[in-house]
Amino acid sequence: MIVTIDGPAGAGKSSISRQVAEQLGFEFLDTGAMYRAVAWAVLRQNRELTDASAVAEVAQRLRIDLSGGKVLVDGEDATAEIRTPEVTQATRYAASNVEVRAHLVELQQQFGREKNLVTEGRDQGTVVFPHAECKIYLTASPEERARRRVADLAARGVPAEFDDILAQQNRRDEEDSSREVGPLRKADDAVELCTDGMTPDEVIQRLIEIVEARK
Ligand code: C5P
Repeated sequence: MIVTIDGPAGAGKSSISRQVAEQLGFEFLDTGAMYRAVAWAVLRQNRELTDASAVAEVAQRLRIDLSGGKVLVDGEDATAEIRTPEVTQATRYAASNVEVRAHLVELQQQFGREKNLVTEGRDQGTVVFPHAECKIYLTASPEERARRRVADLAARGVPAEFDDILAQQNRRDEEDSSREVGPLRKADDAVELCTDGMTPDEVIQRLIEIVEARK
């Protein structure tokens, strides 16, 4: 069984999807980490982010290993570094690259073969697994997402202004949904869940109910 969870940045998808997978006893795939890993490697190899064929070449040669809860890129642990603001900014060059997307989509489809899988991203229900048994579109209002992000950063000792975070997030939303390849879009047959006012545990329980109903 394939469960896809798509939605905008900051909807809490990653940690929630991981816990849903764990509770169901399913494998978990964080596809955002794959786009981040490509951007991280381009920066690491001093290649030009704006050179689309260089970015595609880096992606083709890369070994990305997401098993074991870490992000290993060509054997190197990049788990923390792929989440830095620099890599987050650079990731759009990987995400908007047609060849990179084709390559990563294929890897994701291979990963999902003959498995029970919860996969999380932007295009999982629309492009990667159009025949998934259960599709979820997870959202929250822009303000709620920005509030959560500010609280998250504060908990890690990083001060952040709400207005700055909201502006950055709006930019990412716009880039994500206006991309020509693999844009963020709710699949027609996805169940939409807006998580405003819900605790993470409530969201996880609701998602498990949705999956159980489709089994
Ligand atoms: O989900 P996360 O924030 O880690 O994703 C990082 C970036 O990768 C996002 O801004 C998004 O544009 C891109 N992405 C994508 N397709 C996916 C998952 C993520 O284009 N399936």
